[in-house]
Amino acid sequence: MTETLETIAQKMVAPGKGILAADESSGTIKKRLDSIKVENTEANRRDYREMLFRATDAMKNHISGVILYDETLRQRANDGTSLVEIIAASGAVPGIKVDTGAKALSGRTAKIEKVTEGLDGLRERLKEYHGLGARFAKWRAVITIADGCPTWNCIKANAHGLARYAVLCQEAGIVPIVEPEVLMDGEHSTHDIDRCYEVTEWTLKTTFQELYDAGVKLEGMVLKPNMVIPGQKSARPASATEIAEKTIKCFRATVPVAVPGIAFLSGGQSDQQATENLQVMNAMGPLPWKLTFSYGRALQAAALAAWGGKSENAAAGQRAFSHRAKMNGLAAAGKWSKVLEKAA
Ligand code: 13P
Repeated sequence: MTETLETIAQKMVAPGKGILAADESSGTIKKRLDSIKVENTEANRRDYREMLFRATDAMKNHISGVILYDETLRQRANDGTSLVEIIAASGAVPGIKVDTGAKALSGRTAKIEKVTEGLDGLRERLKEYHGLGARFAKWRAVITIADGCPTWNCIKANAHGLARYAVLCQEAGIVPIVEPEVLMDGEHSTHDIDRCYEVTEWTLKTTFQELYDAGVKLEGMVLKPNMVIPGQKSARPASATEIAEKTIKCFRATVPVAVPGIAFLSGGQSDQQATENLQVMNAMGPLPWKLTFSYGRALQAAALAAWGGKSENAAAGQRAFSHRAKMNGLAAAGKWSKVLEKAA
C-alpha cells in the first residue's frame, strides 16, 4: 500500500524522534573528514555513514528519518545490504537531498547572496529517487544577513524555488522538507536576535505565500527552519529562554497550523545548545505543531570524533551518536535536562 504524504510527514515528526541530516555533499563531507584526518574516498564516506545507520538503539528509538546524498542512496554496506534497507529496517524513513546547491545570485549583491539551484530535470529525478526508496526530500535555501541584505530579490527567488520544488515532490509521492535557512554566521555585530527575528519572519511569510501560490499541501510537508538566534558575531548574547520565546512567537505569526511539524537545523550551534534550545521550546507547549530536530553537525560531531576513521572505534562512534540522538529525542518530547545530559 502506498503511504499518503500526510502519513509519511507524521512519521517524520513522530513524538520523541527527529531526523538525522546525513546528506552532506562530497565537498562538505570532505571538510568533516579532513577534521579527523581521514581521506575523502567513497569507501570512507560509506563506512562512516554505515556506522551511524547501524547504531540500532539510536535509529530505532530516536530517529524518524535520515536525509541522504545521492551517492549514499545508491550505496551498499560492506555485507552487500543497501544502506536504504538498513535505514528502513530500523523503522526510519529514507530521504534525499535534491537541490544542487546554493549558487551566487547574480545582480547587485552577487558577492553575498545565493539562490538554490536544482529544478532542471527534478521531476524525473524524483521519480527515480522514489523508485530507490526515498519517501521525503530536502531543499535548502540560504538567506544571508549583511549590510543591505537580505534583499527582497533574494528572499523572493529562494521562496519561489522552494515552492516549485515542494509541489514537484508532492506530485511524486515524496514529502518535501522546506528549508529556508537564515544563516547565523556573518561578520556583523549588529546581527543580533532581533535582526534574525525580522529576517526569519520575512522569509517565512514569503515562503508560505509561494507555497500557497504553487498549490503545496501543507499537511504533507515538514518545515526546516533556523531558530531565532543571535548571529555568531553578535555583540548581544541571548539566553535559551529568549531564543525559545522569540522563535515560537515568530512561528506563531508565520507558520500555518496545518503544517504537521517543524524540524530545526542546528546551523553551527554547539551540540548541547541545539538540544537545550529545543527542550526549552517544547517545555513552553502546548504548541500547534510538533517541534523536533533535523540536525547535521549537532548530531554527528561527537560521533565523527569518536570514530576517527578507525573500524575498531565503530562502537565508540555509535555510542556517541546514540547519546546525542537520545538527548535530542528527549528534548523533542520536552523531557531533557542538564542532569540527564551529565548522567550519561
Ligand atoms: P546542520 O544541522 O549542520 O545545520 O545541518 C542540517 C542541514 O541539513 C542543513 O541543510
